[in-house]
Amino acid sequence: MNPASPAQSATVSSAPAGVPAVRLVGVTKAFGSGRSAVHALRGVDMVVPGGQLLMLVGPSGCGKTTLISIISGVLNADGGVAEVFGVDWSTLNGGRKTVRRGELIGFVFQQFNLIHTLTALENVSVPLLVRGVDRHEANDRAAQALKDVGLGERMNVPPSSLSGGMQQRVAIARALVGQPRLLVCDEPTANLDGQTGQMVMELIHTAARSNDPTGQPRVVIVVTHDSRIFHYADRIEEMEDGRLKSRPSQVILDEAKHIPHYDKPSPDSGEES
Ligand SMILES: Nc1ncnc2c1ncn2[C@@H]1O[C@H](COP(=O)(O)OP(=O)(O)O)[C@@H](O)[C@H]1O
Ligand SMILES: [Mg+2]
Repeated sequence: MNPASPAQSATVSSAPAGVPAVRLVGVTKAFGSGRSAVHALRGVDMVVPGGQLLMLVGPSGCGKTTLISIISGVLNADGGVAEVFGVDWSTLNGGRKTVRRGELIGFVFQQFNLIHTLTALENVSVPLLVRGVDRHEANDRAAQALKDVGLGERMNVPPSSLSGGMQQRVAIARALVGQPRLLVCDEPTANLDGQTGQMVMELIHTAARSNDPTGQPRVVIVVTHDSRIFHYADRIEEMEDGRLKSRPSQVILDEAKHIPHYDKPSPDSGEES
């Protein structure tokens, strides 16, 4: 859709203000081919403005992880357009994609995905080291990120000596240490008890209410089917069999009842001072 040249040279700071964080038009994705093909996405349209905490809900297998993998540039769409901060992923080659992903996006996974041979501090410093930040600065920033999630006293231990909730907090620190403009979380509370899940969601919610270093409002997309956290959403989209429903089902809206003005979402609806 877009000519390749402007996108190729785009950097985080050059993304124009007012461009949606995410814009998907007719996104399709299948795994395999012929009769055995699994049509994971069957045409998804979605616009996510800055400053929003969007929850993507739906049953197992409906395509949630595939969708956020395409938003994150980890998977290529087969058809349609997937733009993040105004840049179409399909216009970037592999190296540029990796750089852009590192600059813009932080991930939190259901299974935490920490490296167990490293300490918490080392885990959190990895994304900075990969981006060429020197070790001293990376350690300082990782230490601060761990303090921000309440783990200042547990930095030098391996993940295996931490509880599940603490491990997920390390993972959140790792996702936020590079100050991404987009935070993507795939079932972040699914392996946690209710109280711990609330604490983790509080941290994710706080991230959604802060700006990135260029002053742009952060965007958070949380895939979940944990109804205990629906009320943190500014907006909920429900997926079913590879598509977004035009409106979430009433049972989901009831579970998320204090989403303000759900019928009138606006770019500013999720922002607080
Ligand atoms: N790498 C893959 N190879 C084959 N099929 C896949 C692959 N990834 C996902 N799928 C299939 O695509 C569909 C959507 O999967 P997924 O996006 O993981 O759903 P969800 O995250 O909602 O559980 C499922 O039928 C799943 O089995
Ligand atoms: Mg999934």
